[in-house]
Amino acid sequence: MPSERTERLRAWDGATAPLITPSLLDCDFAEVGREIARLEAAGVAALHLDVMDGHFVPNLSYGPPVVADWRAVTDLPFDAHLMISNPAEYLDAFVDAGADSLLVHAEVVRKPADLLRQIRDRGCRAGLVINPPTPWTAVEPYLDQLDSVLVMSVMPGFGGQRFQETVLEKVRAIRAARPGLRIAIDGGINARTADQATEAGATQLVVGSATYRADGNYAASLGEVAEAARRGLQRGGAAPGRAGAPPAV
Ligand code: DX5
Ligand code: ZN
Repeated sequence: MPSERTERLRAWDGATAPLITPSLLDCDFAEVGREIARLEAAGVAALHLDVMDGHFVPNLSYGPPVVADWRAVTDLPFDAHLMISNPAEYLDAFVDAGADSLLVHAEVVRKPADLLRQIRDRGCRAGLVINPPTPWTAVEPYLDQLDSVLVMSVMPGFGGQRFQETVLEKVRAIRAARPGLRIAIDGGINARTADQATEAGATQLVVGSATYRADGNYAASLGEVAEAARRGLQRGGAAPGRAGAPPAV
């Protein structure tokens, strides 16, 4: 019988757009277990893990031992956003800790084809991330090797920044180049910006600060984002969701 984690991964792989993935960055780090339980109760399909090294980005967050502790309390897929200068050195540690997907920055990977292959060889999903100033053509040669592309709509390092809509042009270009590819967007996503992202072709939205509210009702906060995202998807006309898949939120 497939394990709960395998089932969740299958659901995530086939999830209908818009897929909402809350980020564990602006949560209450004194009570992360409770935060994860609330997000699970809200029906999220996966968690976005923001890993920062104080070098590639001017901030620090958490590493493999912390991720391993979270893996012990949830079967939700972990989509790990590695904002680190040397992702190849930590690939095995993050997979061993329970990451299901590794998102590495195109700005730091010297040989993306090799690293993406190594990630997939470990049974993990592979994604490339591009910062706002990085052109989409940085990922173009690797589109066939990717499970997702993550387009940053803020400079990475901190939650709560303003959404940069100029990056939507890149989302549109990637969508045109690979209509079926999962395109995620990260930074400044909330109920006022989500529709622009999905209209342009984003199928996965990372939601950081807009997730967390004092009453702990994350189903409400994420539901508002999902509603806006659905409106944008309808306007955009590109709904690459797969038939029969469960709703993302
Ligand atoms: C930013 C991180 C984001 C962050 C987004 O460096 O990569 O995932 O959590 O936070 P918001 O949604 O508040 O911009
Ligand atoms: Zn992120």
